[in-house]
Amino acid sequence: MSEWFETVAEAHRRAKKRLPKTVYKALVAGSERGLTLDDNIKAFGEIGFVPHIADLPAKRDQATTVLGQEISLPVIVSPTGVQAVHPDGEVAVARGAAEADTAIGLSSFASKPIEDVVAANPKTFFQIYWSGNRDRILARLERARNAGAKGLIVTLDWSFATSRDWGSPPIPEKMNLRTMLRFAPEGLSHPRWLWGFLRHGLPDLTTPNAFPPGEPAPPFFGAYGEWMQTPPPTWEDLAWLREQWDGPYAIKGITRPDDARRAVDIGATAISVSNHGGNNLDSTPATIRLLPAIAEAVGDQVEVLLDGGVRRGSDVVKALALGAKAVMIGRAYLWGLAANGQAGVRNVFDILRSGIDSALLGLGKSSIHELAREDLIIPEGFFRTTRS
Ligand SMILES: Cc1cc2nc3c(=O)[nH]c(=O)nc-3n(C[C@H](O)[C@H](O)[C@H](O)COP(=O)(O)O)c2cc1C
Repeated sequence: MSEWFETVAEAHRRAKKRLPKTVYKALVAGSERGLTLDDNIKAFGEIGFVPHIADLPAKRDQATTVLGQEISLPVIVSPTGVQAVHPDGEVAVARGAAEADTAIGLSSFASKPIEDVVAANPKTFFQIYWSGNRDRILARLERARNAGAKGLIVTLDWSFATSRDWGSPPIPEKMNLRTMLRFAPEGLSHPRWLWGFLRHGLPDLTTPNAFPPGEPAPPFFGAYGEWMQTPPPTWEDLAWLREQWDGPYAIKGITRPDDARRAVDIGATAISVSNHGGNNLDSTPATIRLLPAIAEAVGDQVEVLLDGGVRRGSDVVKALALGAKAVMIGRAYLWGLAANGQAGVRNVFDILRSGIDSALLGLGKSSIHELAREDLIIPEGFFRTTRS
């Protein structure tokens, strides 16, 4: 069978087949009833196009910039803290994105050191949570700056609501003999995945960017525990953090116009309209339903990004027509990574690029910068807003 895949849906099918069930379920993630998880995908499908048939542009342009970085298509990698999907992990993601000439967000819960990831793709933004005291946060920033990170993404949408009606996979504390024996049957029944790791060494399940330099890389739960015990940040804390980082600064997790305005007030360069891919508070609407009100509230004072549910180029075009400058993808590239490593990540970007191009052609647009709400058919009652 060819390693190339035609759609993100096919990459998803292959990932499901190839990954041990525990790893696969950790990527599906979601919370509670999974309403938000489902709505992120469903909502894109409710928006329509009516294509033109003549006077179409012979060339279509997708290039843009995000957080000061030039990218060849309006899609970047959203940070995901996942272990054990592929032996090259975030380095493979960074390389696949570099081949597609786009940028990546690197999670502070990632499995590879930031220095290796920046070497693979200089257009790397480092993502942090508000975790630990200010000195510890500063030490992480310092390391990211020294490594050459081009921007900071501060993710704020997490309410520790992690129960799932379909059950959560067990996440091992660390890789030791007990863990190996416990997960051996799953590994043995997915020989291709196991062989990939055996050639490189089993995943050590640590998060090398989570603790300040000089401390040993903590296991995932060490990093998560510190975060859980840290009081959530105030806007004052976030303004202080902004002052500590003298480059592009993005706030990820915005679902409300009032929060978007606060992000502008503290000097954010960008916001991402995000519900953490349906992993935060269930019943949060799909981000695409929330986007226009937020984009209108901030105008061009800040770059507006969106993530959640993007699986095809036409989804990207819909988000751009509704006010996003670019989108971030999560599971789409994780499926690609699981299906075919670095080439699989590149494959996903190729699929999105070609889907964006087709949508631009059908809509008669020569550039993503010409997209507008009038290009879409939006059903009555599609959008959701708060009264803020
Ligand atoms: C398995 C998984 C792990 C994630 N880990 C992080 C993380 O460490 N930091 C972060 O900011 N967002 C994290 N996210 C959220 C993604 O950055 C992004 O918001 C989300 O995946 C977008 O939705 P999509 O998967 O439908 O594209 C994670 C998402 C998934 C699915």
